[in-house]
Amino acid sequence: MARLCASADVPEGEVRQVDLGDGRVLAVYRLDGAVFATDDLCSHGDASLADGEIENGQIVCPYHMGTFDIRTGEPTGAPCSIAIRTYAVVEQGGEIMLAP
Ligand code: FES
Repeated sequence: MARLCASADVPEGEVRQVDLGDGRVLAVYRLDGAVFATDDLCSHGDASLADGEIENGQIVCPYHMGTFDIRTGEPTGAPCSIAIRTYAVVEQGGEIMLAP
């Protein structure tokens, strides 16, 4: 399983960018104690979602303030209309990893 970061790197209600070094750059979130991951790149433009704010389970893109549901990747607010990819993650022994 690919390690993303330490559990402590993603406090409740926050998001962190993780570069896997293989071309994939993810945004890793913690919501209500659970960890989620999506592509970091907004589907609307060249913005890092990890630089955005979390509001009601959604990530607000810092560029045009479009939003995505963190759990599903579905766009929830204009101008975003294309879903971002989500990744299954597991948290174990103080580490956050991509699920196999
Ligand atoms: S780049 Fe994200 S909403 Fe435009």
